[in-house]
Amino acid sequence: MVKEQLEYYAELTEAALEGYLPETQCLQKNVILAARHSLKAGGKRIRPALVMEFCRVCGGEPEDALPVACAIEMMHTFSLIHDDLPCMDDDDMRRGQPSCHKAYGEANALLAGDALAMLPYQIIAQAALKKRMEQTAALKIISLLGESAGIFGMIGGQVIDTENEGRQLPVNILLEMYRMKTGALLDFCCRAGCIAAGAGADKQLAAGDYAKKLGLAFQIIDDILDVTADEKLLGKPVGSDADSGKFTYVTAVGLDEARAEAERLTAQALKVLDAFEDTEFLRGLTDMLLKRNY
Ligand code: IPE
Ligand code: IPE
Ligand code: MG
Ligand code: MG
Ligand code: MG
Repeated sequence: MVKEQLEYYAELTEAALEGYLPETQCLQKNVILAARHSLKAGGKRIRPALVMEFCRVCGGEPEDALPVACAIEMMHTFSLIHDDLPCMDDDDMRRGQPSCHKAYGEANALLAGDALAMLPYQIIAQAALKKRMEQTAALKIISLLGESAGIFGMIGGQVIDTENEGRQLPVNILLEMYRMKTGALLDFCCRAGCIAAGAGADKQLAAGDYAKKLGLAFQIIDDILDVTADEKLLGKPVGSDADSGKFTYVTAVGLDEARAEAERLTAQALKVLDAFEDTEFLRGLTDMLLKRNY
């Protein structure tokens, strides 16, 4: 049931994403192809699912939030393209394919990432202008997106991550970095879904609490998989963190305690879901993300 619903949301998202990318009969062909390469390579598509599902549990139609779902998948894909660049994590594989810079060169990967960071704002604004979304909701979501992706959000986390390669960090700083680099976009997904449905501050707050727990658990599991996963299944290099001298939650406390902490955080996330009704899918997804092997 979780798998089917996730697939359904992924199909909706992928069909809509295609429509947002320009045709390639132009001088910008390579950058469009580079963006499409990374966007369409697959991925779990959990962010669009969170956006649409939070919209649904707050009483909206999932499709009402589809432009926002596409926007965040683009923003996330931008973060992955840049994350893989030689100046960042220097990884050659992503989503089971050569990473963007391996397939299209560094300059096009950089620019494709840039383009995927711009399009989200355009998509949400256009949805409001075309009356597919309520305008105030769209403005709130645009503002939240800038905050979540920005200097004190995803980018801020990436700064701490890259600046501290080869260095040990206090666990509280490490978790703050996870909250930003990974948690911030997940927080956006859950809260933006509520906003798209016109939900009040209490629901948004609860969605944010849920996302904070989920985000930390998600990055801890990502770190565990970097040590334990099967590379073919994972679709990105195993051992990348060790290769770049990253200090992760696994290096800090060991595999067993890292897994135990991810379990505790997941249990806390599930508890927060009590604030919503009809949460079967969200609960299943939360549990699936804890147990994932890719
Ligand atoms: C990978 O995110 C980057 C992190 C924030 C850990 P995902 O694990 O969601 O990557 P895809 O979208 O499934 O490829
Ligand atoms: C991801 O952290 C954070 C991003 C904002 C992309 P990682 O560097 O651990 O993500 P993966 O393992 O390369 O997907
Ligand atoms: Mg990284
Ligand atoms: Mg990386
Ligand atoms: Mg990782």
